[in-house]
Amino acid sequence: ISVDVNKPGHAIAPNLFGIFFEDINLSADGGIYPELVRNRSFEDADTLQNWKFTSANNQSKALVCTANVLSRQPVTPLNAFNRKSLLIDANGLFKMENEGYFGMNAVQGNSYTFKMAARTSTNFNSSVKVRLVGSNGKELASGEIKGFDEKWQYFSLTLTPSTTDPKAHLEISGEGTGKLYLDMVSLMPDKTWKNSGLRVDLAQAIDALHPKFFRFPGGCWVEGEDFEHMYHWKNTIGNIDSRTSLWNIWGYNATHGLGYHEYLQMAEDLGAEPLFCINAGVSHKETVSTDRIGPWIQDALDAIEYANGPLTSVWGSIRAKNGHPAPFNLKYLEIGNENFGKEYFANYELIAKAVLAKYPDMKLIANDWSGGHPTEPSPELIDEHYYNNPDWFVLNATKYDGYDRKGPKIFIGEYAVTSGSGKGNLRGAIGEAAWMTGMERNSDIVEMGAYAPLFCNANHKRWPINLINYDSYRWYGLPSYYVQEMFANNQGTVTLPVNVEGGPQVEMPSSSGRIGLGTWNNTAEFKDLKVVAPDGKMLYQSDFSKSIDDWTKTGQGDWSVKDGILKQSAIATGVTAFVGDKSWKNYTVTLKAR
Ligand code: AHR
Repeated sequence: ISVDVNKPGHAIAPNLFGIFFEDINLSADGGIYPELVRNRSFEDADTLQNWKFTSANNQSKALVCTANVLSRQPVTPLNAFNRKSLLIDANGLFKMENEGYFGMNAVQGNSYTFKMAARTSTNFNSSVKVRLVGSNGKELASGEIKGFDEKWQYFSLTLTPSTTDPKAHLEISGEGTGKLYLDMVSLMPDKTWKNSGLRVDLAQAIDALHPKFFRFPGGCWVEGEDFEHMYHWKNTIGNIDSRTSLWNIWGYNATHGLGYHEYLQMAEDLGAEPLFCINAGVSHKETVSTDRIGPWIQDALDAIEYANGPLTSVWGSIRAKNGHPAPFNLKYLEIGNENFGKEYFANYELIAKAVLAKYPDMKLIANDWSGGHPTEPSPELIDEHYYNNPDWFVLNATKYDGYDRKGPKIFIGEYAVTSGSGKGNLRGAIGEAAWMTGMERNSDIVEMGAYAPLFCNANHKRWPINLINYDSYRWYGLPSYYVQEMFANNQGTVTLPVNVEGGPQVEMPSSSGRIGLGTWNNTAEFKDLKVVAPDGKMLYQSDFSKSIDDWTKTGQGDWSVKDGILKQSAIATGVTAFVGDKSWKNYTVTLKAR
């Protein structure tokens, strides 16, 4: 290999390697947000979830109560946004236990702050005991709380474990009669990364990647199944007791302890450019048309004002009240996630125009998904996502070499090897590394990119392969993590021509290469496939006589070929046929449904 240092090419994009943080796989709660109590505000369900209640004489009960003006329940909520609380109707000895997120990590000598809000409606005047208990049943730390009143009051104490146990749990017990209401029962480590409120080891793991940007908070989490469950940033700021929790598309209730403000703060603490991805009026199951997009536009404008506005602005003053008077300097706003189609394009146009009218310097990112992206107004960057097998990434490392340089810049917002690499192995990491050389070489057009997903609590895995995996007290990175770290910590400033001499030389017939097919339909059947090579030669014409072994499956699909029919029997994102060598060529493919 020879490198010509006298012929510098283009500068390597300074923000090329960043991270994408999605609240997936318990990344926030049960991950970097270190609350140890699960379902601290009893909002998870109408029944008691993630808590175990026992009554020694079976005479005490625990009920989740919802303050509802229409139901005439005489329940006073902690506040108007936190309407559920726990009622302990005590008559004797009772105990409540919480294991947190698959065990609480109690570290000997470290201090933990226990807090809870409580009230009594019937003069429950006994004390309650709070204990941190090890997996062997031994007490690690304890304290006592008393003095309940008809009004909600906050109580707190410090617990300092006498021994280390990563699988500890919390117990709250009492003996008495009367009605005791509890809410916001919390146990937090006092020691956090840079006093930021984040779990130390996980924050250090992403800090070591020196991310240049920080995309948040999703992903599909931004879209939600429907509009009720899309990400509403305004419900995630301010006093944590009045943040509305939300059922997360990845299968758990999100407390929003890590909210919009904390994401911006996290980006600042990591020295990364924040990149906020907003819902574009498109969820997985619902879409709004342009006549109803007004609230989405307002939310986008307000989010920017919250991040950047002066103290005299409404949202800028709320940011200051929440502890950050200086602007966060948000420059990147992504409109939508993996959205496509005419409704998305129309919504994008209205949101983008309104944002640019007020904030002309904002760098807008549009989705490029399912073969296209909105162009009016022209986005600064378009977000492309790639999940595939190692070979695909190696073969596509040259994808941008001949790419049209006139359009918007590329943001590869999500990429990762997700198949053909076991649970995430060296093969996958090498595929990504090859792909990243292509990103670097083409960073005059590919300005930014991030591996996805970043985080996974190993006890709640909802995505097959994830970069950083952890439980209550330890983490490990896939080989892909070390590839990310290596590239991020060794980013050059300029590209240089590289010449590879020797090595195997392969003569390719001009008509050989690779084609890909993909559909979303899981019962599709095709006939009359025609594949015409770049030189005009007809390669296939309704010829499925070859066995499926000649077809390499990619993505999550399952395809078969029988009696001249290409049949898809499960959801497929793509099928690739090798026609000779393995590189992608400009074939013309025509396909007729059966
Ligand atoms: O990274 C996991 C998911 O993959 C993201 O939520 C979504 O954008 C993509 O489909």
